[in-house]
Amino acid sequence: MNAKIAFIGAGNMSRSLIGGLIASGYDKSKILAADPSADVCQALSQDFSIECFQDNHQVIKKAEILVLAVKPQQLKVLCQQLLTDIQKKKPLIISVAAGVRSRDIDHWLGGNLAVVRAMPNTPALIQTGATGLFANDKVSELQHNQAEEILRAAGLTLWVKEEEKLDAVTALSGSGPAYYFLFMEAMEAAGQKLGLDKKTAHLLTLQTAFGAAKMALESSDDCTALRHKVTSPNGTTEKAIQSFQADQLEQIIERAMQAAKARAQQLADELGEE
Ligand SMILES: NC(=O)c1ccc[n+]([C@@H]2O[C@H](COP(=O)([O-])OP(=O)(O)OC[C@H]3O[C@@H](n4cnc5c(N)ncnc54)[C@H](OP(=O)(O)O)[C@@H]3O)[C@@H](O)[C@H]2O)c1
Repeated sequence: MNAKIAFIGAGNMSRSLIGGLIASGYDKSKILAADPSADVCQALSQDFSIECFQDNHQVIKKAEILVLAVKPQQLKVLCQQLLTDIQKKKPLIISVAAGVRSRDIDHWLGGNLAVVRAMPNTPALIQTGATGLFANDKVSELQHNQAEEILRAAGLTLWVKEEEKLDAVTALSGSGPAYYFLFMEAMEAAGQKLGLDKKTAHLLTLQTAFGAAKMALESSDDCTALRHKVTSPNGTTEKAIQSFQADQLEQIIERAMQAAKARAQQLADELGEE
């Protein structure tokens, strides 16, 4: 495809997407970036051999796709600055800003635009992200595929048909890495209480999490079947699982994710009103 893409805001997320796109063979001459910082721009140009400008207007004129990758709180002001240029060219807009709804972005940019909202997570920074995507009704099939190609550079992509579902995506994969970090912290600490040294507990925890995720990804069995396979009757695993379930682990997780989803809705309301 290799349409001309401009990344507005050349921070962590843009770096990851640009790195992933180039690694997957995307034509470097079709990737542009803009960031107010001369140092950030210079570093990006050096690392990826792409053009980076300190003036957003320079890149907007040239691009068919704009990836808005500034902080959520910076997005409204950015959109207001870009409105005139964008209305002239009407590029595909892809926003990776957490919690900002597509209708607000479309409204801030003057309306009637093709907008894809992406909700990536932090592992996207090492190209192992999970990204939920939503397209508004102005997005063509070609643009849908273009957005998917760009976000796939950072890992797995899944589309939702209703934008509200991105709040559930936020509660699951968006915030999810932190849940696993917490679980791993707890396993490391418990391992040490059982007598292991810190380094051993740490490495065993990480490799176990990695191995379990890899097995689940590669197996045709679902998580429940995989768990049953490693849980022998009256064995050690069964004792631990019974203890988790007696403490209502599933309900604890559900309550936590409900809280995350409610906060995602609230943040989107606040960001939209700003
Ligand atoms: N990092 C993650 O793990 C992650 C995960 C999911 C979603 N996201 C989303 O991705 C977006 C970017 O996150 P990030 O981690 O890449 O942030 P970041 O590292 O702070 O990058 C944002 C960049 O945009 C620049 N910028 C600010 N205003 C600008 C403007 N008007 N025009 C052009 N550039 C401008 C910033 O410059 P200054 O620093 O000078 O302001 C900064 O270099 C956020 O909206 C975030 O919600 C990030």
